[in-house]
Amino acid sequence: MPILTIESTCDETAAAVIANDGTVLGQCVATQEALHERFGGVVPEVAARAHLERILPVIDTALSQSGIAAGQLDAVAVADRPGLAGSLLVGLVCAKTLAVAWKKPLVAVNHLHAHLYACQMAVTESVYPCVGLVVSGGHTSLYHCTSPLDLAYLGGTIDDAAGEAFDKVAAMLGLGFPGGPAVSKWANRGDRNAYSFPRSMVHDDNFDFSFSGLKTAVRYAIVGPGHQDFPKLDVPEKTKADLCASFEAAVIDVLVAKCERAVAKCRCRRLIVGGGVAANGYLREQLQTSAVENDYTLTVAPMKLCTDNAIMGAIALEKIRRGEFASLDLDVTPGLQRGF
Ligand code: KG4
Ligand code: ZN
Repeated sequence: MPILTIESTCDETAAAVIANDGTVLGQCVATQEALHERFGGVVPEVAARAHLERILPVIDTALSQSGIAAGQLDAVAVADRPGLAGSLLVGLVCAKTLAVAWKKPLVAVNHLHAHLYACQMAVTESVYPCVGLVVSGGHTSLYHCTSPLDLAYLGGTIDDAAGEAFDKVAAMLGLGFPGGPAVSKWANRGDRNAYSFPRSMVHDDNFDFSFSGLKTAVRYAIVGPGHQDFPKLDVPEKTKADLCASFEAAVIDVLVAKCERAVAKCRCRRLIVGGGVAANGYLREQLQTSAVENDYTLTVAPMKLCTDNAIMGAIALEKIRRGEFASLDLDVTPGLQRGF
């Protein structure tokens, strides 16, 4: 029997109906990009209120697309961690309410594990064991994955996520929100060696990342060293392209280096990569080169499953197979600590 999956961890309200063989029967994503654009980042309170308005219509759309009635569902699944507390709460309360009203079991999924499961959904063979990189607006983490649900945290960012750095650099240059796709477009026209931005922690013998110093380095390259104020500057097009290209190269050099280190340390022959930043063309290209040079297989999430969606909530089917259901007193786990 099919399941309903709900995703509301950050700023996309999403639902999907998925058959027990993984076939997607219906799905809907309502993005909040336009609401957050003028702030240059996601405003948690605005996000939570927008989820509240959208969640029922989004679920209705996914269900009617699938032609499945509520009574025919096997379970209601929801991402309960990590994410913005208010956003998570809307999804969880909605999922619990529907589970009670429809007399269905509740399944809780980890949003980061779901991002990686999107890679398994792209191929027919098992991707496990492997190293998994989640690289998104809120997270940059490496795992040793022995199954879809067995993931050992290797390391992650000690400050900003890679996607957050893309968004903030885009905001500095007035490129709009979300910044990743815009920065990437400008980067393709620029010189990746024009600025020598820091590759923080790249030589450290661990699996951690740091992107906040890089953000500051880009800021100083625009306004001058030591300047805290940020006047609206008319940055020439060539400079904009070079800044984006050099910034993108700095982020991706570190991501690729740490992935190579993790693959070697875990003696894995495969790397899987999910999350919004996995949509980045230069990252995909550089990882593919690394995979050939270091003799591992690269599986990146399909483009439409990189940014937040409810299809990757199909990981709930793996939990159901293991008999792992959630109780109705479940609370959200925003997870401000590292190591999810
Ligand atoms: O996975 P996601 O939708 O949300 C979180 O779980 O955080 O990721 C959104 C992030 C944003 O920071 C966005 O700028 C980034 O993914 N992103 C990209 C690209 N497309 C989206 N970053 C770099 N290059 C892209 N093409
Ligand atoms: Zn995400």
